[in-house]
Amino acid sequence: MYAAAISGTGLFTPGNSISNDELVEALNAFVERYNTENAARIAAGQVEALSPSSDDFIVKASGIKSRYVLDKEGLLDIDRMAPSLPTRGDDQLSIQAEMAIQPSLNALAEAGLEVGEIDGVICAASNMQRAYPAMSIEIQAALGLDAGWAFDMNVACSSATFAIDMAAAAVRSGQARRILMINPEICSAHLNWENRDCHFIFGDVCTAAIVEREDLALDRSAAGGDGAVWSILGSKLRTQFSNNIRNNFGFLNRTEAEARTGWDLLFKQEGRKVFKEVVPMVADMISEHLGEHDLAPDDVRRFWLHQANKNMNDFIAKKILGRAPEVDEAPIVLDEFANTSSAGCVIAFHRHRRDLNVGDFGVLCSFGAGYSAGSVIVRRAA
Ligand SMILES: CC(C)(COP(=O)(O)OP(=O)(O)OC[C@H]1O[C@@H](n2cnc3c(N)ncnc32)[C@H](O)[C@@H]1OP(=O)(O)O)[C@@H](O)C(=O)NCCC(=O)NCCS
Repeated sequence: MYAAAISGTGLFTPGNSISNDELVEALNAFVERYNTENAARIAAGQVEALSPSSDDFIVKASGIKSRYVLDKEGLLDIDRMAPSLPTRGDDQLSIQAEMAIQPSLNALAEAGLEVGEIDGVICAASNMQRAYPAMSIEIQAALGLDAGWAFDMNVACSSATFAIDMAAAAVRSGQARRILMINPEICSAHLNWENRDCHFIFGDVCTAAIVEREDLALDRSAAGGDGAVWSILGSKLRTQFSNNIRNNFGFLNRTEAEARTGWDLLFKQEGRKVFKEVVPMVADMISEHLGEHDLAPDDVRRFWLHQANKNMNDFIAKKILGRAPEVDEAPIVLDEFANTSSAGCVIAFHRHRRDLNVGDFGVLCSFGAGYSAGSVIVRRAA
């Protein structure tokens, strides 16, 4: 058995950012037009009037202030209210593969590795743009990797922590020396931008991480690479079925008696219930996990938590620590990125880890649809 470590990360951020004010202005123009056009039916009680959104509500309820998206114009166009991502031919690089390249190369560079030194690729995300061939295999080819294997996996918002665990298992067993783990999340395409309850929630991004045999990473680090090596002490994964976050889009939609299309097939949630049920589930999971490693909550220098809701993260950290967390104990990136599904905790780890000292402990943690939750305890080893 070998020990596994994270030796590099990368982040692709789309060039377009949408502020809450821009988003609210578009939704409210849509709402006003809808209510005007449907005034008679609303007055007759045949349809319900739509309600406007507000920046105040969004910030207070979630902490989100902006989000990056692959396409901004289509989302803010009230005749479209959806990203515009033109069709690509089968011989062109897919969008998710394209967004994976830069963060993968950045993660490799940070680890001081060449592409050819990777033995496996895991593409882990909430949505794959097609069923097959696997996105990961296309990414493997696009990177110029002509050996090894690749596969896709989807555990919704917990895809990255589950994938880190799968990658660490392959590394520990000796089956692979190094795995490239990638999270291309195009959340803007599964969101109903006409619905004020959720139009503010998501953003697009792609993260990558290298999970590697710790001894190899430490040897390279000692020889003078970028140097930082994060030992993976262990992971804890948990699932519990819930319909409170659900996406019904799938290949059987067109086989139904009345073929279903439209936004109502895509992301929907009972946000309040999710909040109430997931906070204790995750706090208990992390506390138990720390106990299994003989760590007290205060031994942990940083929690890189899933980035869905700031209030939720504050509650979770408070429940674990028994006190309010300091800002830098559970850093927030969702104010800038919104919820980027599986990528959220990896962005937090990517952005907020370099100030930790050798010997410091940290926890990467995800939670979301399924329900699914994952906790990965790391210690800075170099
Ligand atoms: C989604 C979420 C931000 C909503 O916050 P909330 O405080 O639960 O808000 P609610 O949905 O209960 O809505 C409260 C009120 O604000 C209203 N409201 C909803 N969206 C609004 C908006 N954009 N602008 C203004 N008011 C809004 C609601 O209609 C409701 O009005 P009512 O009290 O008259 O019925 C929050 O529940 C959440 O983040 N939950 C966790 C979700 C999560 O982690 N999901 C994982 C996804 S991967």
